[in-house]
Amino acid sequence: VKVSVLLPAAGSGERIGRGPKAFLKVDEKTLLEWVLEGFAWADEIIVALPKGFEDTGLSVLTVPGGATRQQSVCNLVQVATGEIVLVHDVARPFVVRAAVERLLSEVRTSGAATLAVPVPDTLVQEQSGRYGAVIPREHHRLVQTPQGFRREVLLQAHLKARVEGLEFTDDAQLVRWQGHPVALVEGDRRMFKITYPEDLLLAEGLARVWNS
Ligand code: C5P
Repeated sequence: VKVSVLLPAAGSGERIGRGPKAFLKVDEKTLLEWVLEGFAWADEIIVALPKGFEDTGLSVLTVPGGATRQQSVCNLVQVATGEIVLVHDVARPFVVRAAVERLLSEVRTSGAATLAVPVPDTLVQEQSGRYGAVIPREHHRLVQTPQGFRREVLLQAHLKARVEGLEFTDDAQLVRWQGHPVALVEGDRRMFKITYPEDLLLAEGLARVWNS
């Protein structure tokens, strides 16, 4: 079946403070270029770009980004033509093929799945600066992307959320809110999200030993 890869890349990159993250460079390549290479096998790739950055110089299908990540994905899923869509944050430049294959095979059978990894540290509630209740980490996961869905499932969930004015931080949440179960598939720690300046140092290190 045809697979569309949807790339929300319209964030402003506030926490790093060096412009839109999609255009930050790791080992001479922008994060967007890393991700485009990682998904080069896909039948279709569509990118949501920030206003004023529409001209990437790359030959790729684009849509205007929205005010939030959810709105950017909503714009993307409406033009996708694949029966299966994978939504992936451009802030995660290292696309591990084996993890994506695991995800795809789950999506083909159950219709909705996300990559996720175990929590490596002790997880605790903060209570006014003090150490509160410990949350059993073995029952929790850190959610990654890509997240995969049958296109119809994701599209309907986005249209409903828009009508109801609800915002979610990822697509798995949105689909689950619509009553569709979302499978957890083992992710890969190399697919971490670049959020803070020091994450770029980790990415530079990983880039040196990377060949997918
Ligand atoms: O800010 P954060 O790292 O959580 O953003 C996750 C992804 O969503 C990034 O790839 C970012 O470019 C994208 N995004 C978007 N449109 C927005 C905000 C974020 O496409 N309005």
